Amino acid sequence: YQTRFALKLIPSVILLMLSVPVDETAQPGCKLPRLNIKGYTRGGDIIVGGIFPLNYQTYQEDFSFTKMPNYIFCEKIKFRVYRWLQGMVFAVDKINRNQILLPNITLGFAIYDSCGPTAKTIEGTMWLVTGQEEPNPNYRCQHSTPLAAVIGDAGSLKSIAVAEMLGLYYYPQISYASSVGLLSDKSKFPSFFRTIPSDDFQSLGLSRLVMHFGWTWVGLLAEDSDYGRQGIRMLREEILKAGGCVAFYETIPLSYTQTIISHIVGVIKNSIANAIVVFSNEPFLIPLLEEVTQQNVTGKIWVASEGWSLSSVFSREEFLQTLSGSIGIMTYKGEIPGFQEFLYGFHPSKFPDDIFIKKFWEQAFACKWPETITSQVFNIQVSRDIKLCTGEEKLNELNNIFVDASSLRITYNVYNAVYAVAYALHDLHSCKPGEGPFLNRTCASIHEFEPWQLLHYVKNVHFKDTEGKDVFFDENGNPPPMYDILNWQMTEDGSLKYVKVGSFDFSAPKGQDLIIQENAIMWNGGQTEIPHSVCSESCLPGFRKAAHEGKPVCCFDCIPCSPGEISNQTDSTECQKCPDDHWSNKKQDECIPKTIEFLSYEEPMGATLATISISIALTPVTILLLFIKHRDTAIVKANNRELSYLLLLALVLGFLCSLIFIGHPSTWTCVLRQVAFGIIFALCVSCVLAKTIMVVIAFNATKPNSNLKKWVGAKLPNSIVFVCTVIQVIICIAWLSSSPPFPEHNMQSQIGMIIIECNQGSSTAFWCVLGYMGLLAIISFIVAFLARNLPDSFNEAKFITFSMLVFVSVWLAFIPAYLSTQGKYMVAVEIFAILASSAGLLGCIFFPKCYIILLRPDINTKEYLMGKGAF
Ligand code: TRP
Repeated sequence: YQTRFALKLIPSVILLMLSVPVDETAQPGCKLPRLNIKGYTRGGDIIVGGIFPLNYQTYQEDFSFTKMPNYIFCEKIKFRVYRWLQGMVFAVDKINRNQILLPNITLGFAIYDSCGPTAKTIEGTMWLVTGQEEPNPNYRCQHSTPLAAVIGDAGSLKSIAVAEMLGLYYYPQISYASSVGLLSDKSKFPSFFRTIPSDDFQSLGLSRLVMHFGWTWVGLLAEDSDYGRQGIRMLREEILKAGGCVAFYETIPLSYTQTIISHIVGVIKNSIANAIVVFSNEPFLIPLLEEVTQQNVTGKIWVASEGWSLSSVFSREEFLQTLSGSIGIMTYKGEIPGFQEFLYGFHPSKFPDDIFIKKFWEQAFACKWPETITSQVFNIQVSRDIKLCTGEEKLNELNNIFVDASSLRITYNVYNAVYAVAYALHDLHSCKPGEGPFLNRTCASIHEFEPWQLLHYVKNVHFKDTEGKDVFFDENGNPPPMYDILNWQMTEDGSLKYVKVGSFDFSAPKGQDLIIQENAIMWNGGQTEIPHSVCSESCLPGFRKAAHEGKPVCCFDCIPCSPGEISNQTDSTECQKCPDDHWSNKKQDECIPKTIEFLSYEEPMGATLATISISIALTPVTILLLFIKHRDTAIVKANNRELSYLLLLALVLGFLCSLIFIGHPSTWTCVLRQVAFGIIFALCVSCVLAKTIMVVIAFNATKPNSNLKKWVGAKLPNSIVFVCTVIQVIICIAWLSSSPPFPEHNMQSQIGMIIIECNQGSSTAFWCVLGYMGLLAIISFIVAFLARNLPDSFNEAKFITFSMLVFVSVWLAFIPAYLSTQGKYMVAVEIFAILASSAGLLGCIFFPKCYIILLRPDINTKEYLMGKGAF
């Protein structure tokens, strides 16, 4: 009756542990002492194995070896895990009742509690594989009841060990909770499947979650196992890739060590990182979180991996302060029709073969079954008031997570795992001979199949679950990754509830994969604003990040952008230069067009200068009229009337030419400005020069025998004026033909402004024009100076000297002023020089004459002027 397995090389470790002679006639003395395994079994045509971490491990074994080390103390049932276990029982029942799925075949099960060390789990697996309480490796000695598959274990640590062993025989193993990425490796774990997504996705999901809330400075804690370390490694990579930083990374020891725990709590306390992602399973985390609560560390956001995000331990009141507001990631929840009723109707009388049920009952209702008491007489005496279990207790009146089927997640995974096995068996059963997948198109028999044959069907299983979602395994044995995001919220009655605040679906298109309802989240301390967890607060627009050398990128200073540069996003690493015609605004988060500057008529300075020049221009006009009116008086006639008229006209033009300097520069105003200015002033100064020369000539001509007499008259002054002006005209023509002035947008010379100015084209030409004018002025100055003392009453040389002095000094002062100003002020300086020098000429030469004409008509006679010279 022995079914022989394909003989395989069994790892020597297992052999050593379990080696029992295969022979039936083995001597009792050959038997190793410790194997005596009990589980929860139910017979059937095919057995499905189950491994659940049902009990808490309450004590450590005594390893003093003064006696044989006892069994591990596993005597406190985890209600939640017991619900998972019942999920399997329920699923098997349901499949058996289903007429379509596996008709005429009943499934049985064998469930093992994996509480304790990993070795115990291997032992349990051995029990499942061999079907014997005293397992003989490689033999399965039961009446044609093949083991189909094993459902379990929960924790990755043990699942790996189980998978290692089951892989040897190619028994399909479907875990409902082991998520470590390592188990995706099919070359190592060829027969492993799971109904929980791989941690590769969980890490990705957690990193997206962390980045979503802008937590760039996060602490990481990992259980010191493949599950924790691998999960955190992936998470860390993803966080770094997304631009976040890791504030600290600590591993939580698997066996309680006070010094390490204190150290970790110290690190958490001293770090400014508020977000702490913990990749761990519940048992290892308990001591750490107890210490955290004791030291009153609050205000942290705990981000939980699925290993502890629904753990009932942490909903105890003592943890509320610390843990409320936490965020957890968890597989999605599913509905199992009829399961709630099944749990409510759960009773020891219905499941007599359930070896755990009585203990569960005692624990749930805090009572004792009479039969357990009799064996513990001692106990009664200690506690007389012990409550006896009657069997009348009502589970539905109990507030116990065992009966809470409102949020089935792992239970749902268990349920789907059992169904996957059933569907695979069904497919195997429905194989039509001649169309089978195996060698020569053969099929496997449902009553006698090899484990690897079922494995073939499990790999390809595909069905719809009760939610309508597709259940299948990808090439690595993983289900489609989908998660819910839960928020731990404190309710009014002071308990903790898990509120779904989002989901994470990797099959959804990018951008829609992570959905979070932020307003549904309640953070630690009841706050509704997203808490911060950053090394440096982010830089506002207008600033850029400056990294600290040797520190993570998330720690930085914010440095304001330099003028003319902007940053328009928070946390920019660099400031951008504004385009040439733009400048940064005050906040330096925007480039604004530069203000355009030129001397316009609208602005006060332009308007004032324009009014001044127009009103001053009226003065020479008035004087001209006055002179014309009094053209026959001595003083007008004496001083070369025509030249005076010309000079006055030139001065009018001179004053008015400052108007061309005001207003938006255009090509023609730029040209006109300098040319008009140069020629008009050359005209003015040459008039003055002509006048002075005429004074000298006139004086000398009065001397006897002077041959200068022929020069007296209008010819000479006219030609002087003409020649001197024409020279300036020639200079100007040369200038215009070589490189004429043109308007230009000057963006560099002044911050934040575009200056529209006239480029002189050739500045040499400009200075030539000015220089020529100066030359004329200096000549007339010298001549006038020499003639100043000629004894003649109509001698105006003194006034001309003075006027030229004013003229030359104005233009000398102009040079430095002109060179040191910019933009519109430069133009204003030039206008000012024009006005001042013209006014100087006007004032010095004409005012004394006007004085005589208007106020002293008595001396305005030829006699007086010629004779007494009192003037
Ligand atoms: N994912 C965990 C691991 O691989 C196991 C796990 C997930 C678990 N959820 C759980 C264990 C709930 C116990 C309870 O190790």
